[in-house]
Amino acid sequence: MSKNVLVCVAWPYASGSRHLGHIGGAYLPADIFARYHRAVGNNVLMVSGSDVHGTPITVRADAEGVQPIDIVNKYHNEFLGYWEKLGISWDNYTTTMTDNHKEVTQEMFLKIKENGFIEKNKSIQAFDPQEKKFLPDRYVEGTCPCPVAYSEARGDQCDSCGKTLDPEELINPISKISGNKAEFKETEHYFLKLSALNERLSDWLNSKEGWRPHVINFSKSFVEEGLQDRAITRDLDWGIDIPENELGDGKKIYVWFEAVIGYLSAAKEWAINNGTPDAWKDFWMNEDAESYYFVGKDNVPFHAIIWPAMLLAYGDLNLPTNVPANQYILIKGEKASASRGVGKTLNDYLDEWNPDSLRYALASILPEQNDSEISEDEMIRRNNEELVAAWGNLVQRVFSQYINNYEKLDFDFELNEIDKKIIDEASVCFEKTSELIEKVELKSSLQSVMGYVNKINAYLNETEPWKIIKEDNARATAILHTSLTAIDACASLFTPFMPTTSEVVKNAIEKNTNNNWSVNDIKKGAPLENIGHLFKKFD
Ligand code: MF3
Repeated sequence: MSKNVLVCVAWPYASGSRHLGHIGGAYLPADIFARYHRAVGNNVLMVSGSDVHGTPITVRADAEGVQPIDIVNKYHNEFLGYWEKLGISWDNYTTTMTDNHKEVTQEMFLKIKENGFIEKNKSIQAFDPQEKKFLPDRYVEGTCPCPVAYSEARGDQCDSCGKTLDPEELINPISKISGNKAEFKETEHYFLKLSALNERLSDWLNSKEGWRPHVINFSKSFVEEGLQDRAITRDLDWGIDIPENELGDGKKIYVWFEAVIGYLSAAKEWAINNGTPDAWKDFWMNEDAESYYFVGKDNVPFHAIIWPAMLLAYGDLNLPTNVPANQYILIKGEKASASRGVGKTLNDYLDEWNPDSLRYALASILPEQNDSEISEDEMIRRNNEELVAAWGNLVQRVFSQYINNYEKLDFDFELNEIDKKIIDEASVCFEKTSELIEKVELKSSLQSVMGYVNKINAYLNETEPWKIIKEDNARATAILHTSLTAIDACASLFTPFMPTTSEVVKNAIEKNTNNNWSVNDIKKGAPLENIGHLFKKFD
């Protein structure tokens, strides 16, 4: 029975280059998960797009003296290059600039309002007296009221404690435009009545099992503290228009209110582009459909609380099945952050690394439960000592034995108990890996596959076909055939993690069956294509 699996991935702000930390934090795990579900025959819809609105974009445009659209076009195109090079298998990667997204956003805004969960209200907003301008979100910086008292907190969020903020909560708020102390003035905005959804959200969170402890604990305590109504419009002219706007000019829908709606609008756009305009409903309205949100931990409040609140307020759509948010990837102890310019750029890595090697190195340290350190030395070690030494060499030595001796091999062989055992282990590995991937324990699932690779290497070291080929050709052939069966299984198991090289291996081996996620019956006596070295070793 195939399932419908919606894979949602955080929409990157088109305001700066992405970093290795972002890839390991959201895009790679989502891609591994999506590729696995496709391999087992599920219907997958993986969506995201460039987040083009909000103050991250306008602050950058101001700093460079260009228009927001120039910034957006530059980085959106750069992102498309990453996905292509890394093999991120989107079903739809779009932007929040489309007419479709605007329509879906405005429709959702109006229906939530009609349902009584959006209201106009007065609020106090940061104001730059010199510039005579309101200062939304990232136009204000100050010290977070959290115990760490992080001094570079932005008006929308503290990077240290992860809390979403309102500018007036900042201690010592400073205008980013003039550097002056920000003042606070009354202004009118639309608010999402989170307080009215508190109880339903709390019940929903309490019903969740198997969520990562850091995600569920953070979300529950956030909701238990009591949710405040939040302004969902801003004093900006770059953004989506407020429908039936009673607030007057100069205000737009808040970027976070509309960006999360992107998951739905991108699904609708995908359905339209496919010529099946209702197909999005299979992922959003079918109650057996599952949805997973791959985001960094700073995005947890928006995906585990605010987006579910919006979905509850709207009605009829599925809430997240799970939000397997990752912690941060740390480079020399600092949060890898494109905006703060820490570490090498992603393009540097994409130029120097084979994409599958990069995917392997990152997948092996995914920050699923804790912040994870990575250094380039460590990545190189993982490539050389694990990927090349275990998997690359296994393929290499079996392929060369088989190809070099092909004319002499005696294909009239029977498998013995040891051979059957190593093939049975492949089936066990498929089951174990499935179980781990479905729980979104991707780092362990990769370890499970590598564990199997090591067993095949041990099997070869014990049976040594290259030594017995002269005296017992049929036995040596049986071992090589068995190894090819196991290698083909590994290539299937590695497909979600390293799609390109896995396909090369699978295509080189002729088979009687064509299973993507179980052991295949390899053609006895078929010639083998020489595929050379799969990965390169770094010095
Ligand atoms: N652009 C946001 C960020 O980079 C993430 C938005 S996720 C979305 O942190 F769902 F809201 F789009």
